[in-house]
Amino acid sequence: MTMNLFVYKTYEELSRHAADQVIQSVVDKPEAVLCMATGSTPILTYSYVSAFAKQNRVDFSRVHFISLDEWVGVPRTNAGSCYAFLHASLFAPLVIRNDHIHFFNTEADDLVFECKRIDAKIIELGGIDFMLLGVGMNGHIGFNEPGVSRKLNAHVIELDEVTCTVGQKYFSEETKLKNGITLGLAQIMKSRKILLLATGSDKQDIIRKTLEGKISNDVPASFIRKHPNGYVLLDLSAAGELTIGL
Ligand code: F6R
Repeated sequence: MTMNLFVYKTYEELSRHAADQVIQSVVDKPEAVLCMATGSTPILTYSYVSAFAKQNRVDFSRVHFISLDEWVGVPRTNAGSCYAFLHASLFAPLVIRNDHIHFFNTEADDLVFECKRIDAKIIELGGIDFMLLGVGMNGHIGFNEPGVSRKLNAHVIELDEVTCTVGQKYFSEETKLKNGITLGLAQIMKSRKILLLATGSDKQDIIRKTLEGKISNDVPASFIRKHPNGYVLLDLSAAGELTIGL
């Protein structure tokens, strides 16, 4: 299997390359539909994207953003929500119109309807062009937790214990995390291009399982290896002792 694997010496270098890819996707298709993960990993990528776009007047005015995932029970006004993170790191600096941001509203009464609304929006926009993903310590992508069906579109999921524990790092005070809402693996696999980023030695083990283990829903991130236009970008510490592609 050919694997589009790139290993960079530093987090900065990885982030520059990831940012270049985001920018390029918009230069190639100014009405691109993007779907971006939140979390610690892409922070620097997004700050490079915003700075570069401003400096070089890259036009993001026709771009649409689709929500990847959100914590259920955490309002958008909470700085730890995925919405607040992306608003601060991309939507505000890139001046994205509200009607080009299609985000799960976890305060809606009917979350199943919310899932259907986002499923329909993806179809209406002609599919996702570019997805940037991180990988959880348990191998999740978005909130597709270990064991999830490959066939699902957007859905509400009970979060894995690891996700609830690790997730505390995004919040200024202890926050009850139980359920998440996420695009499904079916939608992730249909997106036209995927970049999966991992940095830091904490991710070594899960990256080894993702790239060298069996492709299975035990490690949802492993499906990236089946995507025809999937790229994995690592820094040296996340790559660890990988034997492939180096
Ligand atoms: C968040 C998301 C998650 C994170 C993953 C890694 O929107 O989709 O799957 O990408 O949990 O998070 P960090 O980058 O904080 O290690």
